[in-house]
Amino acid sequence: MQELRERILADGEVIGSQVLKVDSFLNHQIDPVFVMRMGQEIASRFAGEGVTRILTVEASGIAVAMAVGLALNAPLVFAKKSRASTQNDSVYTADVYSFTRKEAVHITVSARYLGKDDVVLIVDDFLAHGEAMNGLVNIVHQAGAKLAGAGIIIEKRFQGGGDSLRAQGVRIESLAAITSMEPGKICFAE
Ligand code: G4P
Ligand code: NA
Ligand code: NA
Repeated sequence: MQELRERILADGEVIGSQVLKVDSFLNHQIDPVFVMRMGQEIASRFAGEGVTRILTVEASGIAVAMAVGLALNAPLVFAKKSRASTQNDSVYTADVYSFTRKEAVHITVSARYLGKDDVVLIVDDFLAHGEAMNGLVNIVHQAGAKLAGAGIIIEKRFQGGGDSLRAQGVRIESLAAITSMEPGKICFAE
């Protein structure tokens, strides 16, 4: 998405070699009109797939998932994060290790909001090593639901998460794919 690449070049700040800060429109301040356009773009790529639920993780995935859910007229469900592991028959759970935060978090989704008749579209703001995405895919499998794929705003392709999911047969659509970055220089795929 050309508009997103331009916005990243104009407003993005590369921290070290691994982290892209986009606090001006996505991760601290949110540009609602722009996020809605990005949600519509992700929705259009999965139109006709019969998506019944959007799945993301709190917190920063929620705004994007809301935009996609509105465009596809489907409810969004966000996995909740907790430190303690929950043992409960009525929830699906996965452990997610965060490279950014260097700690594991436990994510949970109530079985009430995801089940075997669902067609799920996972949505997130970033795809890096794919730990969060693996956890969400795992939860979709626990629910016995069908996975339509994943829609991502910014994929950091050099961290490999997207490619390993594609190798497992998961359809990944990212609106901007970064192949390399350093302060002052960001390179995109295609
Ligand atoms: P991974 O899940 O893809 O392996 O990535 P990682 O563990 O590194 O990511 C942990 C959190 O940091 C995730 O947020 C992810 O969206 C975010 N993140 C990863 N890389 C970047 C980046 O380059 N820039 C920004 N701004 N965020 C990044 P989260 O778990 O959803 O936490 P929250 O911030 O939404 O609460
Ligand atoms: Na985040
Ligand atoms: Na996120």
